[in-house]
Amino acid sequence: MLTKATALLWFEKAAYYMAENKNELHMLDAAIGDGDHGINMDRGFSALVREIPEIEHLCFGEILRRAGMVLLSNIGGASGPLYGTLFLKGAATVGDSEALDAAGLLTFFDVGVAGLAMRGRTEENEKTMYDVWAPVLREYKKCLAAGMSLDKILDACVKAAELGMKATIPMLALKGRASYLGERSIGHQDPGATSSYYLIVALYESIRE
Ligand SMILES: Nc1ncnc2c1ncn2[C@@H]1O[C@H](COP(=O)(O)OP(=O)(O)O)[C@@H](O)[C@H]1O
Ligand SMILES: [Mg+2]
Repeated sequence: MLTKATALLWFEKAAYYMAENKNELHMLDAAIGDGDHGINMDRGFSALVREIPEIEHLCFGEILRRAGMVLLSNIGGASGPLYGTLFLKGAATVGDSEALDAAGLLTFFDVGVAGLAMRGRTEENEKTMYDVWAPVLREYKKCLAAGMSLDKILDACVKAAELGMKATIPMLALKGRASYLGERSIGHQDPGATSSYYLIVALYESIRE
């Protein structure tokens, strides 16, 4: 179950991963963008962790919604509105529930990621963070249908995320700053796909604990 406690742990672990991998995200974005993705993600998630004392008493859905607001206004760049939309649209599916089971968490991501794709006007194979989220959702649905437990589902999703992230390397960027490079974007891993991978790893670890 994703509960209030595991959601807050997720934010903390995500902040840890963004801080720990700030330089990697910077280097990836310096190669095909403007080099700010590491700073952006670290700023957004550290702001979210600082917000925890303000939001932890709120109901579960409201915590997720506030997380979306904080990410939206603190990440910046192209990725801030995209991650913000993922959380805001996902949070709107939570209603009065105080936790999400495997099916509920799928709905959160299904609706959240659809919002992200719509906001970015993106499809698969355009070398963006969506190239992680789309295969992760497919894997999640497959595992849920097979009756797997949430920690097993997320374990499989981490592997799908890693494959999706690496699959961005040979892609030609068709969205965002990287698309300005045309053919020169080929051969580099997408920074947003990489931060999305870390977000999924952090979720898996917080559920597993
Ligand atoms: N239209 C889009 N749809 C989906 N993801 C996008 C889009 N544009 C950019 N991105 C993602 O955002 C990442 C770049 O984020 P960031 O560096 O923070 O913003 P900026 O490009 O404004 O500097 C890219 O690596 C890509 O994954
Ligand atoms: Mg950038």
